[in-house]
Amino acid sequence: MTTPHKQPQEPLKHIDQWDDFIAGRYREGKDPSEFRNYDENVNPSVAEFYRLNHANQTLAFTLQKEKEFCGLKRGKKSIWAAADYLNTLVDDSDPDTDLSQIEHLLQTAEAIRKDGQPRWFILAGFIHDLGKVLCLYGEPQWAVVGDTFPVGCGYSDQVVFHQYFVLNPDVHVPEYQTLCGIYEPNCGLDKVHLSWGHDEYIYRVARDYLPEPAHYMLRYHSFYSAHRHGAYRHLMSPHDEEMFKWVHKFNPYDLYSKGAEKPSIKELKPFYEDLIAEFFPSEIDW
Ligand SMILES: [Fe+2]
Ligand SMILES: [Fe+2]
Repeated sequence: MTTPHKQPQEPLKHIDQWDDFIAGRYREGKDPSEFRNYDENVNPSVAEFYRLNHANQTLAFTLQKEKEFCGLKRGKKSIWAAADYLNTLVDDSDPDTDLSQIEHLLQTAEAIRKDGQPRWFILAGFIHDLGKVLCLYGEPQWAVVGDTFPVGCGYSDQVVFHQYFVLNPDVHVPEYQTLCGIYEPNCGLDKVHLSWGHDEYIYRVARDYLPEPAHYMLRYHSFYSAHRHGAYRHLMSPHDEEMFKWVHKFNPYDLYSKGAEKPSIKELKPFYEDLIAEFFPSEIDW
């Protein structure tokens, strides 16, 4: 039995509150032009979360976290064990309406499976949020979830709550505030550091085992300003543009697969164990 983990004092009751905010922002059928600057009055805890995220995600912070986590020195674990581990994050809000972490992963993956997508795509759906184990390593919410954005260059006003970027120390570094900042125009996103979070971490963990379209789905699923609003095209290469069609394909499964019915972990586990074994060794580095 693993001990449930409660999060320390943080602005969000639970990191899922961020996911719910995103799903509301991009409600199915909602016109993208309705996207606007959110203000603190609408949802104070979400606003406070973004304030911390935008104020603290500097280029130096991202580089430090890449160094700390991307060497994958935190031990070996199977994919399923990581999902079980992530599931120990306890939601303080209503237990009847909220899904556990595994349930969200299964609903996403099952929606992909129902559409007859390839097996690697289903698997990408199943693992896409496993990077949230960063929370269990003691990382604050603002360094695990939240819309990701490039650091070391000018901020797009398409990033939600972009008004909080004035609090980021990088605004005082002129080199980081030009359109492309430290990057070459159209250099390709692989050369660009995005604010640190669960996307980059799961991409690093899984990249040796899955095909390239899955890399894009994992790595950029929270990069909403780019994949939903077309921002940061000046940093993207033609290859990124091509591969973003997979990010677009993936996103609705993440946002809109929440069904009324909870998936049965017991019934689905054998299918997912087989699928995992098809692509991953029994244990991988985290
Ligand atoms: Fe996510
Ligand atoms: Fe998700």
